[in-house]
Amino acid sequence: MAVFSLSLARQTAGCLQPLRRLCASGWLREADVDLCLRLLHPTLRLNRVFAQVEARRWVAEEMLALRLRCNGNARAWWAGQHVQLYLEQDGVRHGRSYSLTSVTADGHIEVAIKRQPGGRLSNLLLDHLEVGQVIELGQAFGEFAWPQEQGAVLLLAAGSGITPLLGLLRDALARGFAAPVTLLHQVRRQGQQAFAEELQALAACYANFQVHWAFSGEPSGRLSANHLAALPGDHLLVCGPRGFVDKVCGWWRDAGRGASLQAESFSPLPVLTQEQATQVRLSFVRSRQQVMGNGNASLLEQAEASGLRPAHGCRQGICASCTCLLLAGTVRDLRSGALFAEPGQPIRLCVSAPHGDVEIDL
Ligand code: FES
Repeated sequence: MAVFSLSLARQTAGCLQPLRRLCASGWLREADVDLCLRLLHPTLRLNRVFAQVEARRWVAEEMLALRLRCNGNARAWWAGQHVQLYLEQDGVRHGRSYSLTSVTADGHIEVAIKRQPGGRLSNLLLDHLEVGQVIELGQAFGEFAWPQEQGAVLLLAAGSGITPLLGLLRDALARGFAAPVTLLHQVRRQGQQAFAEELQALAACYANFQVHWAFSGEPSGRLSANHLAALPGDHLLVCGPRGFVDKVCGWWRDAGRGASLQAESFSPLPVLTQEQATQVRLSFVRSRQQVMGNGNASLLEQAEASGLRPAHGCRQGICASCTCLLLAGTVRDLRSGALFAEPGQPIRLCVSAPHGDVEIDL
């Protein structure tokens, strides 16, 4: 039972500065303060971001948009960024990042969640998260932004890559962006076009906006270099699985269409198979743990498999929340294959695999 409304709880966040200072100087424990604050409203916390679910709506086959209202600790977020959602099940905390499709000044955000076969968190959120429930979020991260320079904008998305682009598009059109904007969303088949009705309504409302869909499951439905050549745009924003994004960026550069290119991809990292299967010794120094691991999986996965719970967010090398210091040994960047061996160097555990024995400040 909340004493405050969520609106009042949001306003209260600004008055908590003295408590934050007392916690920072060790006079109070943040966990104790949070215990008291949550009695006033279940989302109210000193620093952490909590939000209440206000609405759920299906926006495509197996894709749900969640409208949430955050406490006052979600500051300077913008649509197109990503945020980690956390949910606990049977005492295990699960987290995964989703793109912000909308952010408003009064603390409302929207995220769209696609069901992943076997995905623990996506299935929990889709099937069990109810209106009124409160969940924890991380801080938003990501640099995707609408181009500042004049010129036509081309947005290319595959699958759930539509979500950050939709957030940026909604904002740009609402702000009165007047140059031509073309969105092409590639999905496997009919029924998977997320937010299709809204996109058609936007195209009807804004004469400078066009939307197209491509169906990769149909003969010649997959986006090609020729399709791209026919689409107008001075600036390209592309988001989707890594293979799609790499191909599109290559075609764009080969066609000499300029340097205004922003790309984000979210595919699982490639699995390396050569000598990395050999056993290596992993020392997690602050946790005083030594375990045998291999050079084939990320340090984040291997630390979790040995019972540690390192902070993490996107698990794709984007958000930097898993950054730790490499104390000794060599790690391989799973995205590029590059090796890093400088002691004291920050590394991202989710995209680094050991290349021999390593010591990590974890
Ligand atoms: S979890 Fe985001 S960079 Fe590693």
